[in-house]
Amino acid sequence: MRNLTQDNITQAVLARFADTPDARLKEIMTSLVQHLHSFAREVKLTEGEWFRGIEFLTRIGHITDAQRQEFILLSDTLGLSMLTVAMNNDKPAGCTEATVFGPFYVEGAPHFDLGEDVAQGAAGVPCVVRGTVRGRDGEPVPGAELHVWQADAEGKYDVQREGLAAHQARGVLHADSRGAYHFRSILAEAYPIPDDGPVGEMLRATKRHPWRPAHLHFMIRAPGYETLTTHVFRDGDPWLDSDAVFGVRQSLVAAWKKQPEGHYLVEYDFVLNPAKDAP
Ligand code: BEZ
Ligand code: FE
Repeated sequence: MRNLTQDNITQAVLARFADTPDARLKEIMTSLVQHLHSFAREVKLTEGEWFRGIEFLTRIGHITDAQRQEFILLSDTLGLSMLTVAMNNDKPAGCTEATVFGPFYVEGAPHFDLGEDVAQGAAGVPCVVRGTVRGRDGEPVPGAELHVWQADAEGKYDVQREGLAAHQARGVLHADSRGAYHFRSILAEAYPIPDDGPVGEMLRATKRHPWRPAHLHFMIRAPGYETLTTHVFRDGDPWLDSDAVFGVRQSLVAAWKKQPEGHYLVEYDFVLNPAKDAP
């Protein structure tokens, strides 16, 4: 164990994990070390570069708190979040596809009756959202719990605004006995992910833009079904083909139709996958 060299240090590190009691932890740590060492060898990482890398991760840690989730942004912009979602949500044909969760979901959002306005004063063009929640065989999912959240007309989520007395543009609703839902909100608009921190520096240094195409977030829960975390994207958005976090799926793109009265209407029907242990 003395005089380790660049040729045998990887094996020495791996040997240190040999007694890890949890087999899955052992598998993950072993693979992580192998890939990290391969990465360093492949790019011939200098000490100065790794110091800058550690400094970058340190600043990500410092800026992260309950409101500002810079580690999630890093994972999202490296495509790691979407890769993990894709690998773990390979649903049968016909089921609504999943996409990234993002950093702006909040526990304890207000509950609304069907038809109510979840915007609660958030700036934006009024919009009606409606559709159904069904299972894979077409059966309605009565009472399905829909969590919805979105940015306002300026591209900000309520949690990004200081001093708001109550939540805006987010809420929890329950589908009716036929699995139908409808609520009022505001028109979804494209917005840049927060780029005033280390992740923004990384995007600028690599000539990447921070924009996400306009979307509504949904998380839908119902007994007997897999929880679905997804978005509905707005057709025609210029950023649909270059989402900063790689979350777009064509099946999730819907038309937001301007109504004669001036508000918009978007309709989207969700299809849930039965839970693996469902009867
Ligand atoms: C969002 O859509 O809320 C989001 C997702 C990933 C990173 C930043 C924002
Ligand atoms: Fe979003």
